[in-house]
This record gives sequence, structure tokens and C-alpha cells, in this order.
Amino acid sequence: MTKLGTPAAPLLGAELERELERLLAVPAFEPSPEFRSQALISDASVYGEAERDYEGWWGRQAAELLDWMAPWHTALDQSDAPSYRWFVGGRLNASYNCLDRHVLAGHGDRVAYHWHGQAGEERAVTYGELLGEVQGLAAALRARGIGPGDVVGIYMPMVPEVAVAMLACARIGAPHNLVFLGSSPQTLHQQLSFSEAVALITVDGAIQREGTFRAVKQEIDPVLAELPSLHTVIVRPHRPAPAPMRTDRDLWWKDAVAAGGGECPPEPLDAEHPLYLLYTSGSTGKPKVVVHSTGGYLTGVHWTSKYVFDLKPQSDVFWCTADAGWVTGHSYSVYGPLMNGVSSLMYEGAPDQPHRGIWWELVERYRVSILYAAPTTIRSFMSWGAELPAAYDLSSLRLLGTVGEPINPKAWLWYRTVIGGGRCPIVDTWWQTETGAILVAPLPGVSATKPGAAGRPLPGILPEVFDDDGDPVLEEQGALVLRRPWPSMLRTLYKEDDRYRQTYFGRFDDRSYFGRFSEPAYYVGDVARVDADGHFWIEGRVDDVITVGSERLPSARVESAVVAHPKVAEAGVIGLPDRQWGQVVCAFVTLIGDTRGSTRLEQEIRDVVRERLGEAAVPRRIVWAVDLAKTRSGKIMRRLLRNMAYGLDPGDVTTLRDPRVIDDLERSFAAGADSVS
Ligand code: WTA
Repeated sequence: MTKLGTPAAPLLGAELERELERLLAVPAFEPSPEFRSQALISDASVYGEAERDYEGWWGRQAAELLDWMAPWHTALDQSDAPSYRWFVGGRLNASYNCLDRHVLAGHGDRVAYHWHGQAGEERAVTYGELLGEVQGLAAALRARGIGPGDVVGIYMPMVPEVAVAMLACARIGAPHNLVFLGSSPQTLHQQLSFSEAVALITVDGAIQREGTFRAVKQEIDPVLAELPSLHTVIVRPHRPAPAPMRTDRDLWWKDAVAAGGGECPPEPLDAEHPLYLLYTSGSTGKPKVVVHSTGGYLTGVHWTSKYVFDLKPQSDVFWCTADAGWVTGHSYSVYGPLMNGVSSLMYEGAPDQPHRGIWWELVERYRVSILYAAPTTIRSFMSWGAELPAAYDLSSLRLLGTVGEPINPKAWLWYRTVIGGGRCPIVDTWWQTETGAILVAPLPGVSATKPGAAGRPLPGILPEVFDDDGDPVLEEQGALVLRRPWPSMLRTLYKEDDRYRQTYFGRFDDRSYFGRFSEPAYYVGDVARVDADGHFWIEGRVDDVITVGSERLPSARVESAVVAHPKVAEAGVIGLPDRQWGQVVCAFVTLIGDTRGSTRLEQEIRDVVRERLGEAAVPRRIVWAVDLAKTRSGKIMRRLLRNMAYGLDPGDVTTLRDPRVIDDLERSFAAGADSVS
């Protein structure tokens, strides 16, 4: 690692506020010479190489980064577009690429996961140990007659065994279907019944992120009984809890492993073999079940984890804070870091459990060098104050990442200044469950970064912004599309291939592969803008745009302006119907600490928004909220706020983190009903 000198004393209070104000005027940040000099990629030639021949370029990456059991003959087959096939004819195994090859190369003793439990327990699992465990469980699954193509459900907390379960499935070619442990038994049932899972891997008991205890196995038993295709349930003891076992179906992990015999060579699978199924996080509409491939997915995930996070397996400790139940966890808590052979930190608890400084305590304790987190969490930290992180030694950090939603420029600067000590580049990574891997993000040793922008597309990726007619626009807001296939893209929606074609390729009829252009126009569903430097500003989901008169305001942009007020912690913004304007802005606002809402504060917030975005964006209604309606992965569910404001049924709330907030929000909304300005 480069010596960066003695870190300056952390900025706090008014001094920090002044520094953030000053930085808000800085348009872009270049990588420091220190960072650039040690970065894996430090010059921009890679973009040109990929641009000249993206298929050939991806082919070279796949060959270099992965171990293949049989080589492919065609990098990309577009003959049945939009069912793209990558690395046709190739055979490989994901678990081999994550484990065996590192052990064979003599790195079996390297730590794969430093695990830190909710109750402060610590455990380190090496690559060698992980391989042993994966073989054992894979053999157990095989002994139960499970093989290529059989779907296996996984419902587990953040413990190294969740990675073991995923890789055991991958080893035998059984696509896994993770269901986030915070989801209800009904959701688990819905998902496993749709995917016709034959097996489930789970735990006896667990402590939820919020700190409450659950007897998981006992609680889900009634719904498991209603899954006719489910013939095997493997239970890992985690937090002791009564776990009724049905002898014809249920096995304790160690008994299953003993019955399997322990050895399990990796199955050579077709590059297109489905690696997993995963539900999209569902902040809008009916959930979709995304199907990811093996060869293409691993190529995209390996490349992006290596170069976007600049991973150095010998020295880095990588911490992707996402739960394995989400795509970020799949790609960057499990497959990405393991393929790279790096050590990761895995933490079972929430950012405020057992105390609000726990993340910084963990960074100090495990010498975390790369931290990857969601803007919603960063905003929480901001509202808890810079004193908490200031109490810990964060000098091991050298790179910071964010993902999941647009990050407000102020939160970006706070992250950079308070957590990164002003020396760590920030990679704002844009991607989706569907894209499998990061597609738009800085390369930290090359790219200038602008607070709030995801930056330029990664090599080989071709996004554009279209207006309503499907014409590309510059420096104007429009619909984000992707004009080329990429290896880690979803292959279809499980059992809904027509919906796949319609949702992603049917929007710009005459511009998509169906019509006069040969290039696809994969419809992302996000609103975005490209600036004159080619940086992409992602403004949020298309459904979250508010139309005031002739102005189209993405919710996230208005939220950033509201959050710029120093007393505001978070904001969720929706449009309310209005006779004169079509729609007007309504903001649900949570305040910092014990600040209380007042007419004066409302006025101040309006002034801040007016100054930044103009009159149309000024919220007509401000609703003081205790908490916003968020999905379990931390996204604000504006659909739910909208339905409530419109007096409609909340709709599908299965992905809502805390259903109690609906009542609170309804009360706050009703209470302020006559205070519209
Ligand atoms: C949003 C999470 C702005 C976007 C990986 C996308 C972002 C949706 C960013 C996918 C970012 C994700 N900046 N917006 N860096 N990253 N999004 O499927 O709207 O849970 O379409 O995947 O999150 O969410 P998903």
C-alpha cells in the first residue's frame, strides 16, 4: 500500500459544514497521483480497445479471467436476439473459479471471509476450508438426487455458510434461488413455489438485523408443507431454536454432509447454464424473476469487481455491505470477491446494531480497505453525525463505493470527506439485478468523478439516453437504454420469456432489435441525462418522475435538494394531482436527531429547493415522517407513498422492510392535510 502521510484531524461541526459547502462548488475530482500510481488500470486505453471490437474484447477478458473446462468457439451469438448467448460451446464451473483454482495455486490458507456476528463473535474461513465445506454440501445435495437444472432455495442470514450453499449449488449445476431472510414465510412460499424448488437450505434460528430473534425453521414449516416439489430441507444450526424435523424431508447440515461422502468434483457446465434465479427488489410493480447465466455472468462480475474496486488479493480487505439475498450480495459479497481470491468482511448485523459506530469499529478492527455501501445507509450515518466515525481509525480505507440509487451530492461529499478522509476515490456504480454486474462507474485510477453522477460507461458498454420518440439526446433528460448486449445480462425472466422481450426490448418498437435497427435498445426503466463530458446522471426510475406544468422532475433530484437542508435526514418525494399544474411536489421528510417540524422549517426547505431547482420543484406539501417506506434493500418505495396519498390500496408490500411505517405515514399525511401552502 502507498504511504499517504499522517491523516489530518477529522473535520467536525461547523467546520465540516463549511468544507462540504466549499466542495459542493467543485465540479469534478481527479484520482490522486498516489492512487493512480498503484491502480490496476491507470490509463484510458482500455476504453478504446473495447470500443474497436467489443465482442473480441469480452472474449479476451473471459479467457484471461476465468478457468474454462472447454473453450468456447463463438464469443457472442445474436442469431436468436434478444436471447443472447455468450461464449458459446464453452464449459466451466463457478465454484471451481471461486475456490479450487486458488487452492491449487497455493492460496488455500488465505482468508476468504472474516465473519463478525451480531453478538460480537468472530470467525475466519480460509479458501481451503470453504472448498472443503462446499464439496461436502454439494455431495450432500447430489446424494439427494439433485443435479443440473434443479432449483434450490436458500433462506439464510449473513454467515459464510450462505456462500457455501450458493457455491455448492453452483458446483452441481443446480440454480440457486435466494430469498432474503427478512422476507416473510409467505414470500418464501410464493418464490419457491414459482421456481418449483426441490430443496431448501436454511437455519434453525437467527437474529434479524433489527435485533429480534426468529425460530426460522419452525416458522416456515407450515408453508414448506405446501410445496409439493420440495423434497429436501437442509438445516444449518446457527442460533439455537426449536426446529421440528420431518424425517422424510429434513436433514441437519452435518448429517446431510456425512451422507454425501464429502467429495464432489465440479460439474463442467455449459457457459449458458443458468447459475441462479433472483427476484428484482420490487420498488415498482410486479416482481420479476431474473435468470443469470454462468460464463457471461462470471466474466462481467469478475471484470468489474477486479477493476472497479481495484482489488489486490494479497493486501485488500473488501467489504461489500449488501446482504447475499440481493443481487449486490450475489455479485460483490460472494462471486466477485471469491473469483478474485480476495479477503472479504461479512457482518451479520445492521449498521446501528449493537451501536451506531459498529461499521467504523469493524473497519478499524479488520483493516477494511474497500467499502461498498448504499446511499441510504450513508445518509443515516450523516444524520447520526461525523463524531461517530471520527472516534475510529479509518486510515486503512483506500476506496469507497456506492450502489442502489442516485447518491445526493452532499452525501457523496460527506462520504468522501468524513469516511474517506478526502483521500479515497468514490466509485458510484450503476447497475441492476438484470444487468448482473456494474455497467456505469468510474475506473478509480483513471476517471474524474462528479458528486452525484455515476460517470462514464465501463469499457464495452454502450448506454444512450432516448427521448420519447426513441431519438438519442445529449444534456437532456430521457430514458436510459443499452445499445449492445453485455456478457452478464439476464438471459430471460423465469417462465416469462414474452415478458422479458416486452419489458426490456419492446419499448422503443422501431428502434429495438424488432425493427429497423440491428442493435438492441434494452430499456432500463431509469431516467438519465448524459452531460457534455459523457458522464451519466441517473435520476431514478421512470415511474418516479413528477410532471409539474411542462417540467419533468425526477423524484431523486428533488430529494437531493430537500436533503441539502442541514436539518433534513432523508426525503421521499412524489407528485400529487393538481388542477392547475397537472402535478405538484409533495415531500415526505425525516429530520435529523430530535429536530421537530415547524412552519419555519417548511419555509426554509422550500427556499433551499427553489434556489437549487426553481419554482416548479418547490414542495407544496411537506409531510414530517418518522420513517420512510423502504424496501428491505433500502430503496424508498415511492409507489407506496403515492398510493397512500391517492387513497389507494398500498399494493404489493412484500418487499417493504417495516410494514408498520404505513400507519405512521398515513397518520402524518392526514394530519398535515390542511396545511398545504
Ligand atoms: C437504481 C441494484 C443511481 C436504478 C444493483 C436501477 C442506481 C435500480 C444506482 C436497480 C446508482 C442502482 N445510481 N441509481 N449508482 N445503482 N440504481 O435491481 O434505478 O436492486 O435501475 O439493483 O437501482 O436496482 P436493483
